[in-house]
Amino acid sequence: KNVTILGVPMDLGAGKRGVDMGPSAIRLASLVKRLQSMGKIVEDRGNIHVPVGLNRDNEAMKYREEVLTACRSLAEEVYKIYQEDSFPLILGGDHSIAMGSIAGLARKEPEMGVIWIDAHADFNSNTTSPSGNIHGMPLAVSCGIGDPEFVDIGTPGRKIDPKRVVVVGARDIDMGEVVLLRQHGVKVYTMEEVDLYGIQHIMQEAMQYLEKNCSCLHVSFDMDAIDPSEAPGTGTPVRGGLTYREAHFIMKYISTYGNFVTSLEVVEVNPILDIQNKTAELAVELIESAFGKRIMYYSDIDELD
Ligand code: ARG
Ligand code: MN
Ligand code: MN
Ligand code: MN
Repeated sequence: KNVTILGVPMDLGAGKRGVDMGPSAIRLASLVKRLQSMGKIVEDRGNIHVPVGLNRDNEAMKYREEVLTACRSLAEEVYKIYQEDSFPLILGGDHSIAMGSIAGLARKEPEMGVIWIDAHADFNSNTTSPSGNIHGMPLAVSCGIGDPEFVDIGTPGRKIDPKRVVVVGARDIDMGEVVLLRQHGVKVYTMEEVDLYGIQHIMQEAMQYLEKNCSCLHVSFDMDAIDPSEAPGTGTPVRGGLTYREAHFIMKYISTYGNFVTSLEVVEVNPILDIQNKTAELAVELIESAFGKRIMYYSDIDELD
């Protein structure tokens, strides 16, 4: 499959500014060139339009109108890419953009699943959110929970069955989220489980579960899932995250599922908080792993000749 890149320069869902520069930072880390040298046919479609944030006064949902507008256009664009039978690679932006991506994808694949790799669950509703930052709500919205106008982005009603969602890497979940996640039967693997069972066991179990219950898979990767020592450029860092190797393992493991995986988004890269652009570089590496890049060894040389 060909890959179509779409940037979403939005930071209005986050509490800190600057994550709107994420798509530029990831492109600067040679994303297109590196995918091409893996033999991929890549089209960079540029960025979607995101309104300027003028409307912060809704305390329960900051910049509600602007985020809603951006997510609606994203849903439309992602749907188009899907229709062209290309693989959408979406660059954030804060995580609120996932409402748009998933709305676009679900229009064609109502039985899709989502693997949500994140320090957070992003499962707040507009009434449980402690911050009013919309990037803490996208997974709940995609499961039909929260502000009805957001739930209805693209097409009316919920986009994914919460039983087709798996969260990996969580370590900062709000009280209201715990209640909602339980109520809706979302499978959550916290960092505690990663410690106990190892990332390999968890990914095996998670992917088996998703493959059994879903028609295809969207991968939503929040860079704050990784430990802040490796990925400092994120707005809501939480200590005790995935190691560099664990993050790569997750992506490589997902890549072995081939055509079952139909879209990928990488979000929350904030270059303002990371002048070395280390986080964006890691994001590109992880994208390579998700597309199947491996460490070369003797056996690969045999395959080549
Ligand atoms: N749970 C917190 C909130 O709702 C933090 C969410 C962070 N989300 C993210 N995509 N980084 O405000
Ligand atoms: Mn997130
Ligand atoms: Mn997060
Ligand atoms: Mn918290």
